[in-house]
Amino acid sequence: MNGYIINGGRRLGGRVRVHGAKNAVLPIMAAAVLSGDVCRIYDSPLLSDVIHTVKILETIGCSVSLEGDMLKIDALSADRWEIPEDLMREMRSSIIFLGALCGKMGKARLCSPGGCELGNRPIDLHLKALRELGIEIREENGFIEASCERMHPADIHLSFPSVGATENIILASVRLKGETTISNAAKEPEIVDMCDFLNKMGADISGAGTEFIRIKGKASLHGAEHKIIPDRIVASTLMCAAMTTKSEIELLNVRKEHLGAVVSVLRESGAKIEFFKDKMYIRAPEKALPADMIKTQVYPGFPTDAQSVVMAALCYSEGTSVIVENIFDSRYKIIPELKKMGADILQDARVAIIKGSSLRGARIRAMDLRGGAALTVAALGAQGESRLEGIEYIDRGYVKLEDMLNGLGADIVRV
Ligand code: EPZ
Repeated sequence: MNGYIINGGRRLGGRVRVHGAKNAVLPIMAAAVLSGDVCRIYDSPLLSDVIHTVKILETIGCSVSLEGDMLKIDALSADRWEIPEDLMREMRSSIIFLGALCGKMGKARLCSPGGCELGNRPIDLHLKALRELGIEIREENGFIEASCERMHPADIHLSFPSVGATENIILASVRLKGETTISNAAKEPEIVDMCDFLNKMGADISGAGTEFIRIKGKASLHGAEHKIIPDRIVASTLMCAAMTTKSEIELLNVRKEHLGAVVSVLRESGAKIEFFKDKMYIRAPEKALPADMIKTQVYPGFPTDAQSVVMAALCYSEGTSVIVENIFDSRYKIIPELKKMGADILQDARVAIIKGSSLRGARIRAMDLRGGAALTVAALGAQGESRLEGIEYIDRGYVKLEDMLNGLGADIVRV
């Protein structure tokens, strides 16, 4: 069993450091290819998704080494432009290499990533935008071939502020002579971090973090050093662990400005939360209040990636909460698993209604990354022992979640 045995009902206490953001380091690793040089990326979380992306970098000719938490990427001899199917299929976010390979090699061949645990995840916005840049994209039997002979700058409007599509446009156009703009761009902090890194490499990108991004192409870029921003979803997960165990904990390495939506909901539920520079304290209430209505939205709205862990926390509140998941089709797979623990949740399409109660340990299974983290958080507050399977999902986005929580006094054994 690749799982956790969690002995719930224990109070937590103490402090824990939040590691670098998965959704920043992955696009930044792809961006490093464009340097054609050596890049050093600090506070890189050693996640299975990062290890997978290292394999992709090596496939296209980069050499990569990990020195402590510093990822050294040597892209001097990056000259291949094809990503094998097995590497693409394993991780949907590898689609970010479509833009990076177009930007660096002027061509790319990879397979379409297809759906994932969160439901259908098309890449139509990515392909439409790259075609507007004059990239010829052929799709046949699940493969994508791109060639950039006739590539040109463009003013691109995204019909939906897709994070991945925004990143792919930037990576494809950052070395393209002329000015490319993106309106209705995604504003997530991870995009800002990627653009900060690219600008250190000599790029000229302005407006990252706003809905209008301007990219002035620079023919040659160079290596750079960069420190990854803290992972706001890991921070949200740890805050919810404090909520389900009615504890007070301290988090190190957080950015207050990235946590507004989640902090607002937890304060509404009765948590006392204070920030001091790059750390924060959260003290959970003895009786948590429900959340009136949580609607997941694009940043800076309530993040879909924090929806599951907040649902776990609301299972312990006194009253009825409502969640509406607007971003992904299938982000409620944990509801049947929470019900095995005694949760009272009604779901109708995008709406989930959570009636707070107390939960008991059970045999449960993770079906996706954030759902696995949420089930862990729920089991911490439950009376008795839980056995959670499928923790390979959790390892994609958390560096040893059990160590972070056991360091706060939890009792989790990886088996
Ligand atoms: C990024 O995924 C994150 N992944 C996700 O985190 C996160 O949930 C998501 O952004 C939203 O914040 C990484 O950064 C590696 P989108 P991405 O393109 O880029 C639809 C996690 O748990 N869509 O903004 O795939 C799509 O199906 C992961 O860490 C299209 O329809 O997100 C989804 O419903 C999960 N066509 C919605 O838009 C497209 O061409 C949001 O997708 C692209 C997207």
